[in-house]
Amino acid sequence: MNLDKELIINDLDKIFPLPEGIGSLRVLDKISLQLDRGEIIAILGPSGCGKSTLLNILAGFEKPNKGEVYFKGTPVTKPTSQIGMVFQSAVLFPWLTVKGNIAYGLRFKKYKDKEIDTICQQHIHLVGLEGFEKYYPNQLSGGMQQRTALARILALEPKVLLMDEPFASLDAQSRITMQQLLLSIWSQIQPTIIFVTHDVEEALVLADNVYIMSKLPGRITHKIKVPLGRPRPISVIGTAEFSKIKGDILTLLFS
Ligand SMILES: Nc1ncnc2c1ncn2[C@@H]1O[C@H](COP(=O)(O)OP(=O)(O)OP(=O)(O)O)[C@@H](O)[C@H]1O
Ligand SMILES: [Mg+2]
Repeated sequence: MNLDKELIINDLDKIFPLPEGIGSLRVLDKISLQLDRGEIIAILGPSGCGKSTLLNILAGFEKPNKGEVYFKGTPVTKPTSQIGMVFQSAVLFPWLTVKGNIAYGLRFKKYKDKEIDTICQQHIHLVGLEGFEKYYPNQLSGGMQQRTALARILALEPKVLLMDEPFASLDAQSRITMQQLLLSIWSQIQPTIIFVTHDVEEALVLADNVYIMSKLPGRITHKIKVPLGRPRPISVIGTAEFSKIKGDILTLLFS
């Protein structure tokens, strides 16, 4: 095994029983990926091809039928705070404030109250929510809820961030703001990121490598190295290089 790699995904198969109890559905077929520390990859693929299932296995929420996941050489078989997941809609506790939501997971880590205050403040600053510490989720916009969800995961200091279409429910402008926020956070703490999206532009703005999955059973059909430098401001979308690679990926997705 290549121990230089942060995350190794080796030959994963996932088969679900059909709801009627007879027969089964092969969802993932021989998925193998290797990520360097701090690498950002995006996964594109048709609806229902197994992207969320793959992330659930990487997070330790689901078990594969075959294959293994290694984080820094250690098998991942159950959820760990080293690997954090951000979902499509922000999963927040409605009865807790922004600060309360961020503090929640920290209380299980046996931090002292003062340390929790400091970590909360750092992460509220990181996601730009100063002044909203005492707001409840129903008093926040969708983008602010997603910032809170991101801060809550980042406060636990995961080394790997799994992001399952996290900005899909946001309007176009908030989405771009969140993409740039994520890149700014990445430049500060450099987590390894697996980002699932349906949006080719989003994949290209964020990722070092883009992987394309087939329809069921989900297989990795292509890996595209994104030939764009960092930092990657939003203006990159207007460049000829960006249009060219976007066209190439759309052709692969729809051919
Ligand atoms: N717990 C489960 N039991 C049975 N079948 C499941 C289960 N979870 C997912 N599936 C099936 O696995 C397939 C892949 O689902 P998954 O949610 O991973 O797709 P996806 O690529 O994330 O789709 P989308 O882009 O729409 O989010 C679907 O056919 C789904 O019905
Ligand atoms: Mg999904």
